[in-house]
Amino acid sequence: MVRSNVALIGFMCAGKSSVGRYLAERLQRTFVETDELIEKRTGMSIADIFALMGEEGFRRVEADVVREVATGQKTVIACGGGVPLREENVRALRQGTIVVYLDVTPEQVMERLGPLSSVRPLLAGPDREQRARELLAVRRPLYIEVADIVVPSDDLTIPQVAGRLTRLLKEYERTHREE
Ligand code: S3P
Repeated sequence: MVRSNVALIGFMCAGKSSVGRYLAERLQRTFVETDELIEKRTGMSIADIFALMGEEGFRRVEADVVREVATGQKTVIACGGGVPLREENVRALRQGTIVVYLDVTPEQVMERLGPLSSVRPLLAGPDREQRARELLAVRRPLYIEVADIVVPSDDLTIPQVAGRLTRLLKEYERTHREE
């Protein structure tokens, strides 16, 4: 089986979009972002989708988008942080995609999150630090379980993460060529 896509999974602010964009350019692949496709499809911002359709409504559109992008080829996919929560998403990605987890600590998430805003509805309240810690504690084992490759990315620049990832991808492709 040849898996020609790369999907970046991980918590909010892990750098999936920045690293994904950089990597796609470097590898000359198409870059897509599930959140951006969801916004295009619905004509609404992520914050408005959560407000109007609730998290469950958002997850339904997200699952449709994941199913579609997973059928692409030579694509780098930056996944919203909740994509691995649904088994159907993981199944769709596994068909033709190498799944990469960008690992960050909650401290790093808080550093990168910036001022309080509604852009990320799950971390939009004043208790967001506590919430980030709780969500990450629950999700991290799942991210690791789902991933083919884990890249620690705390305190690293985008080119540094992309460089590490490129090396790990080559290694992965070399050892899985026969699959
Ligand atoms: C979410 C992460 C967000 C976005 C939505 C839900 C999550 O994407 O999909 O706010 O459940 O972790 P980013 O990870 O790109 O911030």
